[in-house]
Amino acid sequence: MKKKFIISGDQAISWRCFTLFIFSLMISANVVNGDSLETDKEALLNLKAVLEEHNRVNRGIYSEWNVDKSISPCQWQGISCSSSSVVGQQRVIGINLSENNISGKIFHNFSALTNLQHLDLSSNTIGGAVPDDLNQCKSLVYLNLSHNILGGNLVFKGLNRLEKLDLSTNRFNGDIKVSFPGICQNLIVANLSTNNFTGEIDSCFDECWNLMHLDLSSNNFSGSLWSGFSRLVGFSVSENSISGVVSGSMFADNCSLHDLDLSENKFHGELPGEISNCRDLVILNVGGNNFTGPIPSELGSISSIAALFLGDNRFSSSIPESLLNLTNLEFLDVSKHSFGGEIQKIFGRFKQVKFLLLHGNAYTGGIDTSGILKLQNISRLDLSNNRFSGSLPVEISQMPSLNFLMLSNNQFTGSIPPEYGNFSQLQTLDLSFNRLSGSIPPKLGKLNSLLWLMLANNSLSGEIPSEIGNCTSLLWLNLANNQLSGRIPPELAKIGRSATRTFELNRLRNDTIIAGSGECSAMMRWIPADYPPFSFVYTILTRKSCRSIWDRLLKGYGLFPVCTAGSTVRTLQISGYLQLSGNQFSGSIPSDIGTMQNFSMLHLGFNDFSGELPAQIGQLPLVVLNITRNQFSGQIPAEIGNIKCLQNLDLSYNNFSGIFPTSFSNLTDLTKFNISYNRYISGVVPTTAQFGTFEKDSYLGNPLLDVPDFMDNKTDHLPNHNDR
Ligand SMILES: *[C@@H]1O[C@H](CO)[C@@H](O)[C@H](O)[C@H]1NC(C)=O
Ligand SMILES: *[C@@H]1O[C@H](CO)[C@@H](O)[C@H](O)[C@H]1NC(C)=O
Ligand SMILES: *[C@@H]1O[C@H](CO)[C@@H](O)[C@H](O)[C@H]1NC(C)=O
Ligand SMILES: *[C@@H]1O[C@H](CO)[C@@H](O)[C@H](O)[C@H]1NC(C)=O
Ligand SMILES: *[C@@H]1O[C@H](CO)[C@@H](O)[C@H](O)[C@H]1NC(C)=O
Ligand SMILES: *[C@@H]1O[C@H](CO)[C@@H](O)[C@H](O)[C@H]1NC(C)=O
Ligand SMILES: *[C@@H]1O[C@H](CO)[C@@H](O)[C@H](O)[C@H]1NC(C)=O
Ligand SMILES: *[C@@H]1O[C@H](CO)[C@@H](O)[C@H](O)[C@H]1NC(C)=O
Ligand SMILES: *[C@@H]1O[C@H](CO)[C@@H](O)[C@H](O)[C@H]1NC(C)=O
Ligand SMILES: *[C@@H]1O[C@H](CO)[C@@H](O)[C@H](O)[C@H]1NC(C)=O
Repeated sequence: MKKKFIISGDQAISWRCFTLFIFSLMISANVVNGDSLETDKEALLNLKAVLEEHNRVNRGIYSEWNVDKSISPCQWQGISCSSSSVVGQQRVIGINLSENNISGKIFHNFSALTNLQHLDLSSNTIGGAVPDDLNQCKSLVYLNLSHNILGGNLVFKGLNRLEKLDLSTNRFNGDIKVSFPGICQNLIVANLSTNNFTGEIDSCFDECWNLMHLDLSSNNFSGSLWSGFSRLVGFSVSENSISGVVSGSMFADNCSLHDLDLSENKFHGELPGEISNCRDLVILNVGGNNFTGPIPSELGSISSIAALFLGDNRFSSSIPESLLNLTNLEFLDVSKHSFGGEIQKIFGRFKQVKFLLLHGNAYTGGIDTSGILKLQNISRLDLSNNRFSGSLPVEISQMPSLNFLMLSNNQFTGSIPPEYGNFSQLQTLDLSFNRLSGSIPPKLGKLNSLLWLMLANNSLSGEIPSEIGNCTSLLWLNLANNQLSGRIPPELAKIGRSATRTFELNRLRNDTIIAGSGECSAMMRWIPADYPPFSFVYTILTRKSCRSIWDRLLKGYGLFPVCTAGSTVRTLQISGYLQLSGNQFSGSIPSDIGTMQNFSMLHLGFNDFSGELPAQIGQLPLVVLNITRNQFSGQIPAEIGNIKCLQNLDLSYNNFSGIFPTSFSNLTDLTKFNISYNRYISGVVPTTAQFGTFEKDSYLGNPLLDVPDFMDNKTDHLPNHNDR
């Protein structure tokens, strides 16, 4: 089961086989042109010199080439040679310089290596256009230029031996017709994903008879769909502007597809039943189009289907009974369809499903009538963004496999059932944006796998139970905009201290985190967009990046750039937040807060906190500290100056007094600062570094504070080029 989700690129011809094959061709070539390992060596040294010229620091493995003159180029790192029993008849056939910090343009003389078959320059920052010289590398079988910043039009010609071509994640643009079908003859894998290609694809690949995997996703291709795709094993045009209908005739009788991704385009009309000709289909994604009519009942005959993404279309609401036959179906997404009324009863019969995604419909009433709460294997249940009402069903707590429960943005009322503390494996409890009242049940403290507890924007009241401190995995706690009150229990400082166990579990159970629907919107609720270090995520949010960010988050691989207090060295970590703003919390902040680990944002704004801010706050690895609109008093702890990666600091609307801490001049990363309306603050604001950049409205209502000159005065001093 697990295996089926992995696209098997290995179905392509094995490296060893063709090495042998090419080698036999090669020997004859050698004799003709007089090239040898000596001329290969000369070319490689030339390559080394050019790379060193363009990369003066952080050089890669090539800088070791020929340092020891007695070593043959065949032993140099990143170089591979043909095997030969006759010394001197070996030739360089492969160069792998992936991830070698290479910038600059592509070397213009790879063709001097006349037997080069395998060239991997992926994951560098190589820019410019592809030089015509590469077209002279007629022996190339494998070319990987992915994850660089290459641009311009694609003009590949004559590379007739090419089997694997990966150009993904670059800046190529324009039409692909010059290169395809020109270089198609032996092509097995082509990945053009994530570029700026435009134009039509319709007949480009007609003559690529050996092609098995074609990924055209995340470009700007338009026009209609290429009708020959059903003879491939994997085909993706996701995230383009391809339009028109998908006709039944496109699915040949002997359709060999395992993975078909037509998502996020502009297809309309019905999804043809002939799709069932693809008997080996494992993943079908048609989400994010404008398909209408019924969900084809023929899908029920494709017994291999494991994931069915139908979301964000306009299919009619009846779900065919035949889908119940899909015994391998694990992932069912029928989100964003504006289905109204009660949830379709049939969903309660998908006993095998692990991921049921029905967010973004308009379901009303309760959830329980459908029977989905009795499904034993559900791991992720996303019913967010609907109109469910009534009280939260207690039965949910009896779903033994539930990891992710998303019920946000509905109209649930009443209190959170204490039984929700019984989910032994729960990682996400997202009940935000409902109308829940009552207090937070202390039993939630039993959720020791919980990573996210999202209860924002409800009407919850009472205190935070100290038991929440037992949630040792809890890294993201959002209780904003409720009516919670009382003091922060010192035990809260213990949350999120050891999420590792949960992350490790997620790394092991590779198949349980399949992404592909709703992650973007979930992460927008969960990751506070306005705040670094989280905000960067929004600049790279595409559907695809949502999947990989989601995956990294759940597996605990570093994602957010943070540094420990006192240090300026940022490392990528999984970093949490405590968001308590917009409540009625009071009392002072326990000094235990300094023992919190892994938290980079603390938002306590719009509450009634009072007393002094504990100096221990300077021990947190914070990027954001927002305590606006409270009653904090006394000195501002100078220790805040120790949080060198702090970017946002909002102390406005409090009652701080004493001298403005001179240590703040250490906050060299501060980009947002507000100390307005602390009328007893005195002293002098530094004018150096970041403090030269803030404007008047960072210091409103501070009569005793000596503030710098501001930009509106400074502009008068700027030289005016029109003078004279
Ligand atoms: C390419 O390299 C070969 C030998 O390594 C050399 O003879 C030739 O002049 C080079 N061509 C260019 C355009 O640099
Ligand atoms: C190309 O290189 C990237 C990054 O090194 C790798 O992930 C990808 O699998 C390679 N593509 C192919 C077709 O081998
Ligand atoms: C194509 O490349 C992209 C980005 O490098 C990658 O995410 C995708 O999985 C690749 N497609 C295939 C079919 O390997
Ligand atoms: C599929 O069928 C077509 C036409 O019936 C035939 O030309 C083609 O060779 C078949 N493909 C495979 C992979 O069997
Ligand atoms: C979907 O189709 C309907 C009518 O068929 C049209 O009104 C609507 O604009 C289309 N939506 C998109 C996003 O293309
Ligand atoms: C539920 O999952 C278990 C373990 O993966 C599997 O053995 C069982 O058959 C599944 N139940 C159904 C009804 O598919
Ligand atoms: C969340 O609550 C705050 C404060 O009550 C309110 O201003 C905001 O509009 C709410 N957000 C939504 C999306 O309901
Ligand atoms: C602090 O939080 C308030 C309320 O969320 C927000 O309006 C303000 O911009 C924040 N301050 C900073 C510096 O980000
Ligand atoms: C604010 O601080 C001043 C000076 O420390 C103090 O006299 C005053 O009582 C405080 N006001 C409140 C509301 O705490
Ligand atoms: C600082 O806070 C005050 C009061 O909320 C606000 O008027 C001002 O615009 C804020 N300044 C900045 C730079 O955000």
